[in-house]
Amino acid sequence: MKFFIDTANLDQIKEAQQLGVLDGVTTNPSLMAKEGITGKENILQHYKDICSIVDGDVSAEVISTDYEGMIKEGEALAALNPQIVVKVPMIADGVKACKYFSDKGIRTNVTLVFSVGQALLAAKAGATYVSPFLGRLDDISTDGLHLISEIRLVYDNYAYETQILAASIRHTMHVVDCAKIGADVMTGPLSSIEGLLRHPLTDSGLAKFLEDYAKGN
Ligand code: G3P
Repeated sequence: MKFFIDTANLDQIKEAQQLGVLDGVTTNPSLMAKEGITGKENILQHYKDICSIVDGDVSAEVISTDYEGMIKEGEALAALNPQIVVKVPMIADGVKACKYFSDKGIRTNVTLVFSVGQALLAAKAGATYVSPFLGRLDDISTDGLHLISEIRLVYDNYAYETQILAASIRHTMHVVDCAKIGADVMTGPLSSIEGLLRHPLTDSGLAKFLEDYAKGN
C-alpha cells in the first residue's frame, strides 16, 4: 500500500518524508488556500517545492472546468516536474481530459469520486489514480469504506490498472480498513499515518526492557 500525505504544508510533508514511509503527496485548491498559497505563480512554485521534498507522485489539481482549459493547465502542471500527476474532477470534461492525458502518457488522478459508476468511468478513461472520498461519504452517514470495497471488486473483475487512492481519510482506522480492503494508496493527514505507530504495550514493553537493562549495568 502506498502512503500519500494529503496536505500542502511543507513542514508536515518533510516530517512524513523523514519517517521514511512516504510515497507521495496529494493537494487540492482548499489545501493550498489553507496554507495561504494563492496566485498562479505561487501555486506553481509550491508544487515545485513539494516535488523537491518527496521522491514520489505529487497530485496537482486543475482549476478549469472546461476541456480546453484543463488540457492547457494540465500540460503546464505536468511540465513542472515528472513527479506531477494531473488531478481532474469527475465531470464529463474531466473524463475527456483524463483520456487525452492518458493517451499522451501524462499521469492523472480523477478526484471527487463518490460512486462505483464514476470510478468505472475513470478507469475506462485510463486514469492512473481514482480518488474516492470516503470521509465525506461518512460525513453524510453513507459507508465510505463500502464504496472502496465495491470499486476494488469492479476493478479486479476487469483487471483495470487504475489505482484506488482512498482519499478524504480522516483517521488511522480508515488507513487500516483501506489496507484490509486492498486500496492501492491511501492519502490522509500526517496524524493518520502517525497513529499507526501507537500502542501502549509497545511503550510499556520498551520502558520495561530499558529498566531491566539499567538494573544489570
Ligand atoms: O484527498 C481529498 C481530500 O483532500 C479531501 O479530504 O478531509 O477535505 O474530505 P477532506
